[in-house]
Amino acid sequence: MQRLTNKRILLGVTGSIAAYKSAELIRRLRGAGAEVQVIMTHGAEAFITPLTLQALSGHPVHQNLLDTKAEAGMGHIELARWADVIMIAPASADFMARLAAGRADDLLTAVCLAGDIPLALAPAMNNRMWRDKATVDNAKKLTSRGILLFGPDSGEQACGETGPGRMREVDLLINDLADIFQVGSLTGKTVLITAGPTREPIDPVRFVSNHSSGKMGYAIASAAVEAGAKVILVSGPVALAAPDRVELVKVETAEQMLQAVQSRMPVDIFIATAAVADYRPVQVAKDKIKKQDEIMALALEKTPDILAETKARFPEVFSVGFAAETHDLEAHARGKLIKKGLEMVAANWVGEAAAASGGTFGSDTNALHLIWADGQIELPLASKARLARSLIEHIAHHYDDCQRKGFPKTNNVVNLKKPGKPVA
Ligand code: CTP
Repeated sequence: MQRLTNKRILLGVTGSIAAYKSAELIRRLRGAGAEVQVIMTHGAEAFITPLTLQALSGHPVHQNLLDTKAEAGMGHIELARWADVIMIAPASADFMARLAAGRADDLLTAVCLAGDIPLALAPAMNNRMWRDKATVDNAKKLTSRGILLFGPDSGEQACGETGPGRMREVDLLINDLADIFQVGSLTGKTVLITAGPTREPIDPVRFVSNHSSGKMGYAIASAAVEAGAKVILVSGPVALAAPDRVELVKVETAEQMLQAVQSRMPVDIFIATAAVADYRPVQVAKDKIKKQDEIMALALEKTPDILAETKARFPEVFSVGFAAETHDLEAHARGKLIKKGLEMVAANWVGEAAAASGGTFGSDTNALHLIWADGQIELPLASKARLARSLIEHIAHHYDDCQRKGFPKTNNVVNLKKPGKPVA
């Protein structure tokens, strides 16, 4: 059930004998790769203990609306923001009535009202209660507001009667829930991204580095998560918060970045956005270097080329490089594609050419020229978040192509296709 991988599910449990099934539901959702947080109504506590659901979900169970301690941790608005979907299973007749009336007098109804995300209910009640005109009206009201009803199913009920009102079986509920999510273009894939600069020490207080902000790499990491991938972000020192749902590995030097990358290989897709320092001091002074002569020479040596070395060692990994150019952008980018044996290169202007187009180091916008073995496309100036989504779409598309047709021989291709239609 890959569509549930990485998804955040807020499970509401209300007062019904079917509440015991929510324990199995949580277990199965987590098994499918989803993260689950639980809100229980007081009615639910008569049927199953918060401790059981806490142990199964791995999170404290949320119970009270006016609990200052809980609100200071993750309040009802934050819970609604955290989730990708809210599912109430089981949903009692009383809960449906309160939700239909737009009440917000307990934590679960308040979160439902505050959430701007899909809301699904798995009703569970006696068949007469389900057929009662009041419940029928409430169900209509809820569906007219876009709320999904999963079930109920018909069959033998806990009260001994037979008819509609049984909570849908866990297997079916999992399928219903998965159907809410579109299959992302990178669902089930692992993507490793390098980002930011590296710092190569000269002595204990100085280093060689560059102005890379890491913004593009971090935006690409978020876009890959959105597309359904499991994302590992290996980052040099930057002033950015870790993106949500990403495994962040912090490094300083090129050597550390190389180790962090290669120890996590192979992955499905490797995107190298890091501005790795090309050279490092041959010797790192143990003590702070004192100033002496007017001129000081620093002997530098090349750092390992993380992208080239990794691609050479793991040729099966679909690899995307970045190229920052001040002139002859296309020719230089294509040179890098061939030299490093890559599947794609995303090139951008730096220096005066970049300043003219609005995309400089640290800025929130950028434009890219995407190049692959037998084609290219311009991704025009846009916010880095938007550009990152567009880039991920292209990468996913070419990755699929490569899986179907095998990797192209980049070093045999000389002819370029005309640029495709720019992507907004
Ligand atoms: N790269 C890397 N390790 C290095 C240097 C670069 O992984 N030691 C990666 C970058 O993350 C980027 C690509 O290789 O994806 C850039 O290639 P590079 O040849 O270094 O291009 P430039 O940085 O633009 O440098 P130059 O044009 O001076 O060769």
